[in-house]
Amino acid sequence: MQIITGISELVVNDLDSLGALNVIDDAAVLIDDGRILWSGPSAQADSAVRDHLGETREESASATTLDDDDIENGTLTSASGGVELETIDLGGKAVVPGFVDSHNHLIFAGDRSAEFAARMAGQKYSAGGIATTVAATRAASEAELEANFVHLLDQATRQGTTTFEVKSGYGLTREDELRALRIINRHTEESTLIAAHVVPPEYKENPEAYVDLVIDEIIPAATGQAKWIDVFCEKGAFTEEQTRRIIEAGKAAGMKPRLHANQLTDGGALKLGAELGCVSVDHATFASDEDLAVLAQAGTVVTLLPGIEFSTRQPYPDARRYIGAGVRLAIATDCNPGSGFSNSIPFAIAIGVRDMHFTVEQAVWAVTAGGANALQRPDVGHLGAGARADLVVLDAPSYRHLAYRPGVQLVERVYRDGELVAD
Ligand code: NIG
Ligand code: FE
Repeated sequence: MQIITGISELVVNDLDSLGALNVIDDAAVLIDDGRILWSGPSAQADSAVRDHLGETREESASATTLDDDDIENGTLTSASGGVELETIDLGGKAVVPGFVDSHNHLIFAGDRSAEFAARMAGQKYSAGGIATTVAATRAASEAELEANFVHLLDQATRQGTTTFEVKSGYGLTREDELRALRIINRHTEESTLIAAHVVPPEYKENPEAYVDLVIDEIIPAATGQAKWIDVFCEKGAFTEEQTRRIIEAGKAAGMKPRLHANQLTDGGALKLGAELGCVSVDHATFASDEDLAVLAQAGTVVTLLPGIEFSTRQPYPDARRYIGAGVRLAIATDCNPGSGFSNSIPFAIAIGVRDMHFTVEQAVWAVTAGGANALQRPDVGHLGAGARADLVVLDAPSYRHLAYRPGVQLVERVYRDGELVAD
């Protein structure tokens, strides 16, 4: 058992609060077996420890008696139960829940920095660039792909991300998509099949035949290997009708639906996502008032991706409009080699606040509780009792510094499942 004390501000969070942060000043967190046992004001920590050590003692039928000295001593070992209490005193640092990156494409090979440089010199982003990464990814070995992936996961972990959704989508053959899912499943339970990312070059003349391949071969082969099914519903990628067929096939195979919707154009993809029961529709760079009303009514999460507007120079959606319409929001990185290659959630918070007009509280909520909602994961994104012990210790007295000090390495230490994973 561990107790973390000396927390100047603890963002506990509530998955249903729509952006309102539950923050406790001068707080402590009690952790056991990778889970939060208790979180609350420091003044109540001793009695929480006593209660929980008591429970553990009863479970192990131990006869140890505890007094206040034991608890204050830092490390306590009960005589017969073997229950050890380790105290970690942060000396006045803010703690937030581990970030939930509910949208990224971290499995790929190759480099598209020249495409980014050309874009900054005036070229427009288009879905066409995906084919470059598909060619490099197909040519890479499984070991190379996994090494590149693990490197990107490690980088993101050091930036505070503790839950990752990861998509396939740079293979676009049965074998290459399955290979990506195999690698993803070795590292996270949030795997997404997006074989319908673009039509691969070999099907350019016959996109319908590729849609058939996705439905008749790739989805059946990926059954049980992907938790989620996703489609890039966009001009130059897949039409609404094709999207509907693919999402329905994925659902029939037991995958839960999510969508890339209204990234480049103002189409009907957002409404289609709500109609198909998508848990989240992502990008939503363009959204009409009617789209927002439909999404709010359906309870669909809208995942905004500030890093993409940043790196494609598209207009930033205004979070105030979405929140005002009653939409449930999340923020994720969408880290990918084309439209935006940042896997940093703190960076997404900073530009979400600066350029999308999230308040700081709403942005921190959106990358934690919002991401958990987007993945239907009640165990992450908050630090209430029962949650997974995923914590980010900031080199700052307040969570506000995440937006206030962009570009500064504020993530000092990261715990996942109660284990220190970045220091
Ligand atoms: O989410 N929009 C589709 N997929 C990615 C971009 C992929 C790429 O350009 O390689 C995205 O932005
Ligand atoms: Fe994406």
